[in-house]
Amino acid sequence: MPEADSAKGEKKFYEDVPMKTPGFFLKGASSLDWGMKNRLSRIFNPDSGRTVMFAIDHGYFQGPTTGLERIDLTIVPLMYYADAIMLTRGILRTTVPPSLTKPVVMRCSGGPSILKELSNEELAVDIEDAIRMNVAAITLQVFIGGEFETRSVHNMTRLVDMGLRYGIPTMAVTAVGKDMVRDARYFRLACRICAELGAQIIKTYYVPDGFETITASCPVPIVMAGGKKIPVLDALTMAYNAVQEGASGVDMGRNIFQAEAPEAMMKTVHKVVHENLKPAEALEMYETLKNQD
Ligand code: R5P
Repeated sequence: MPEADSAKGEKKFYEDVPMKTPGFFLKGASSLDWGMKNRLSRIFNPDSGRTVMFAIDHGYFQGPTTGLERIDLTIVPLMYYADAIMLTRGILRTTVPPSLTKPVVMRCSGGPSILKELSNEELAVDIEDAIRMNVAAITLQVFIGGEFETRSVHNMTRLVDMGLRYGIPTMAVTAVGKDMVRDARYFRLACRICAELGAQIIKTYYVPDGFETITASCPVPIVMAGGKKIPVLDALTMAYNAVQEGASGVDMGRNIFQAEAPEAMMKTVHKVVHENLKPAEALEMYETLKNQD
């Protein structure tokens, strides 16, 4: 029986020493193939090394989420201000104009609805179809500690294998069940497992205590998940802290599309992520843009 890591000594994360990235701007990506690096460079801005990804894939398990009822009317116009869009193939093909050249991060898992056990997912998109849609990355949930943990991890390793075959990076989303503790210890475990098993990008939640240990111990870029709608200043502060503490950007949905002024919020998050705009100034920017709208 393998032993759990029960060493008594304090762990050393060297949070203040960034991992070296020889030959490429993103950590963990130096040895990847040209196509993979090119796709990553479309998602992450090579100058800042960061991204503002816009998550609108909620419908794949919870139907027409508040703010996403009419993607054609309210969401498509916002896509032009994002660095990348994360969505399902149904919405891409029915609603997004093919002339939009933003990199697409394609939701490739699904199965259970909000009415059932969410960790019971399967892969739900073929790699051939992902290629047909010219995606920049493929993505799925990984439920570490969830009821169907092994299935979701194997979904990920299969997706990683398919992606590697064609130079398409996989983004693993660390999903948190209702009863799970959201702390640094849990997210270090979840993120590291996903990276060790091959994901090239990890999307995970921000925690106020020890987030830098999560980014430091994960050898691939982490993007911060937005989570449920919170006050604007709190959301901007969370995004600011995440990038200061080692995240390579954000993947936000509800805190953008459920904001009173979504376009203002998107533009402000962009400044926070790429230009390190501080939270108080960012709030000011948001209010100014909101009033202009
Ligand atoms: C994970 O469950 C999905 O990717 C979500 O649909 C999406 O990431 C949620 O984004 P947010 O929490 O920022 O609304």
